[in-house]
Amino acid sequence: MSLLPQELRDAYEAFQAALDACGDLDALMRLKGAYIGREGSHAARMMDLLKAAPKEQKRELGASINALKGKWEEGLRIRQAELEDARKRQASLAQAWDPELPPPTPAKGAMHPLNRLMDRMVEVFRPLGYHVEEGPEVETEAHNFDGLNIPADHPARGSADTFYLKEHGDLLLRTHTSPVQVRVMQRLAPTIEARGGIRFLAPGRVYRKDEIDPTHSPMFHQVEGLLVGKGIGMHHLKGTLDYAMKALFGPKAEVRFRPSYFPFTEPSCEVDVRCPLCGGDGCRVCKGSGWVELLGAGLVHPNVLRFSGIDPEVWSGFAFGIGVERTAMMVSQTPDLRLFFENDTRFLAAMGGLD
Ligand code: PHE
Repeated sequence: MSLLPQELRDAYEAFQAALDACGDLDALMRLKGAYIGREGSHAARMMDLLKAAPKEQKRELGASINALKGKWEEGLRIRQAELEDARKRQASLAQAWDPELPPPTPAKGAMHPLNRLMDRMVEVFRPLGYHVEEGPEVETEAHNFDGLNIPADHPARGSADTFYLKEHGDLLLRTHTSPVQVRVMQRLAPTIEARGGIRFLAPGRVYRKDEIDPTHSPMFHQVEGLLVGKGIGMHHLKGTLDYAMKALFGPKAEVRFRPSYFPFTEPSCEVDVRCPLCGGDGCRVCKGSGWVELLGAGLVHPNVLRFSGIDPEVWSGFAFGIGVERTAMMVSQTPDLRLFFENDTRFLAAMGGLD
């Protein structure tokens, strides 16, 4: 267009601006009339220009005017197609809208399935007199290891298994919820006689240097339980866990205790629940064994009581730690733990049946 006389250039720009401003087909039709219609004043103006031009310029000017008109026509055609398209889209939207339908219900937020499961565990233990305790996720080595009788050469203390906060002395991300045992016993030791003992549940996040895969995550959840009293033995632990598993999984739930080892309990055991999916026949969830391991437990080691200022000659207790993701995966038949952390609302909604 730069070859055109100023007047033609101005006419082109004015047209473009008017075209962009056309918001609907009616306006476009008016614009069309004004530019290229038979009565169109702009087209007439161009003819006047041509007539007034000196003879030797007429040829060139005439070609430029034709080019300009071509541009106008093309612009109008494209804009018309756009506006027709928009009108169609609007019409089909209007058709799909049924004024008699109830308004859409706004999406409601809900508690995360893992939090719901932990809440349920708390509710199961509440009637037995357990209250809820919390401990920090950034722990000291003393609470996470020393107070729990975990020896210096134990693999859990290695930097391959644990996230240390090197710049902050002996701080680390707790590897289990058991340090809450130490914190609570230390706090309540002076009043334990008056209280008649200690019992609590401590749900929370724990961290281990695990690569993420369908059954491992560097962050997961545990629910710790501790009871300290007089003359506490394995039978109390077994009775308590049997009750809890029945409350969680139904009256037919069966519990199995296998000997195991933890530095902070003696004796120690691992606790399995008969696979609620196959009833014990063996399936994918229980890997054919008929049992699913859900927690570690045992009688509190005398060194642990002593470290926290409780006399093991007088007091004894049991402790357990339940794997929350494991339990949730089993109950909901979720094969991949990562689903719990991806926050895909379709998965979370499907977990509605977890409680
Ligand atoms: N802290 C143990 C773990 O993380 C579980 C446990 C808790 C075992 C309490 C015994 C007693 O594996």
